[in-house]
Amino acid sequence: MHPDGHVSWFLNGKLNVCENCVDRWAEETPDRIALIWEGDDPSHSKRITYRDLHTQVCKFANMLKRLGVRKHDTVGIYMPMIPETVYAMLACARLGAIHSVVFAGFSSHSLRDRLDDAHCKVVITADQGVRGGKVIPLKSVMDEALKECPLVEKCIVFKHQGHDIDWTEGRDEAMRPYCPLEPMDNEDLLFMLYTSGSTGKPKGIAHSSAGYLLYAAMTHKYVFDYHPGDVHACVADVGWITGHSYVVYGPLCNGATTVLFESVPTYPDPARYWHMIEKHGISQFYTAPTAIRALMVHGDEWVSKHDLSSLRVLGTVGEPINPEAWRWYYEVVGRKRCDIVDTYWQTETGGHLLTPLPGAIRCKPGSATRPFFGVEPVVLDSKTGQPLEGDDVSGVLCIKKPWPGMMRTVYGDHERLLNVYLRPYKGFYHTGDGAVRDKDGYYWITGRVDDTINVSGHRLGSAEIEHALVQHPGCAEAAVVGFPHSVKGAGLFCYVTMNNEYEVNEGTVNELRDIVRKEIGPIATPDHILIVPALPKTRSGKIMRRLLRKIASNDTGSLGDVSTLADQQVVSDLINAAQKLFNKR
Ligand code: WTA
Repeated sequence: MHPDGHVSWFLNGKLNVCENCVDRWAEETPDRIALIWEGDDPSHSKRITYRDLHTQVCKFANMLKRLGVRKHDTVGIYMPMIPETVYAMLACARLGAIHSVVFAGFSSHSLRDRLDDAHCKVVITADQGVRGGKVIPLKSVMDEALKECPLVEKCIVFKHQGHDIDWTEGRDEAMRPYCPLEPMDNEDLLFMLYTSGSTGKPKGIAHSSAGYLLYAAMTHKYVFDYHPGDVHACVADVGWITGHSYVVYGPLCNGATTVLFESVPTYPDPARYWHMIEKHGISQFYTAPTAIRALMVHGDEWVSKHDLSSLRVLGTVGEPINPEAWRWYYEVVGRKRCDIVDTYWQTETGGHLLTPLPGAIRCKPGSATRPFFGVEPVVLDSKTGQPLEGDDVSGVLCIKKPWPGMMRTVYGDHERLLNVYLRPYKGFYHTGDGAVRDKDGYYWITGRVDDTINVSGHRLGSAEIEHALVQHPGCAEAAVVGFPHSVKGAGLFCYVTMNNEYEVNEGTVNELRDIVRKEIGPIATPDHILIVPALPKTRSGKIMRRLLRKIASNDTGSLGDVSTLADQQVVSDLINAAQKLFNKR
């Protein structure tokens, strides 16, 4: 790994990602279905051929061009899961503009910070989104964000729901045949996607054109055993990397038919996925362990009444899958006929790093098994930073050599790429995860080793949530940790201290919860907020998160070494307060 983060593939070659994903298929197989859109309302679906996709993307690109979007500009996308979102992404790629999709569940504050950091001049949104029957007022959230985004000149609004919305003349544009392709250098940035880190500020993870596309397409082909004629369904939102690589770029680059799912797994009932698989004849189905666990509790009947014989490969991503959920997926959904691929990767990695290959790698439930082609994982001793040789070892998971889909920079802050990923263990890419390599050389992810928390497969930074909590006028200090949660994988436990003069009342906890929802979005809603007199700190003032994690997990049998604590009394106060909270549940 180059110490300055110089990574390049096919240097000085030329391509256009949109041409690879759209034009060549529109020419070769124009009538093949590119996108199947499954709307929130199960009676709403649309099939879009490669020919249509080409026309729509060109129109969109021409509109962007008319608004002044040029090569290397950045464009913000805040959209629901609808075909227009894919047109917008591909239109940017066609013009060589760098897109930044912001997940539609983020609040106006999070949206503002991301648009601002990315220097977006043009943003794209919709009037409203709808998920599980609930309306998401995207345009009004965007309006709120744009009050504080002076760089944004134009806002394109797609009328998805067709409701009345506020309109700012001169800034908001409505939609309007061929648009030429911009030749791009292989290393030009295709997109950035913000992700949480240990510090408060989210990072714009920036990906290249050729390396990323190759990696997304190749992993899609081999890990999902894709063959022409398959219907590939990755139900992740395009606001996350999984949606970028395995709803849009990987499948389309392979000329596949890809499903765009607007709804949630339990709407209108817990058979939604299985109904959809039967309806569209889906061959590969890719979801998160949290969704599997949420559906398991509803019982097998929802699954067994559907014909799932089209399925061949079942995938999971986002967090370790517990063996019980793995077996249910294998036995009840896959009926012991389908291969399960537990894919381990990150926003930063562009595509799968550790994963079984269907039919070729024997699985062990709960292990992401072995590296994908060309990936060289190492397990390092966390103290010495030395690679642990042989098998049956446990430590920090790093990668030895670059791979094509590796992130190229943190947008506007290359130093951060070096500090977060390349400097902690010299010569290696640091994943931020712990791992075990077992006696058979299989990898087991043991969870994040930094202060990020994986809630329902969404990575959240403790610092971000803490920053939101202290916006409350009475809040003095906050510490947020994860605790094991039966459905979400991890839940959020917030410890809060209030200013002495502030009078805590019955509504305070709700106010604190609402602040987090407003500052970050509903995905970061705390599970527990505990107002405490003080936080446990070392003599040098560092919050002892290890202790807080134990207390939040109701695992206070052995607290480990607490001799460095400045005030021992604090711990028993915390344990008592937490006990009261657990007893209330
Ligand atoms: C975790 C999602 C165990 C891990 C593609 C990683 C997993 C973080 C798995 C990245 C898996 C993802 N087994 N853990 N199969 N997949 N993770 O950036 O902690 O949203 O670092 O990318 O999710 O989350 P991100």
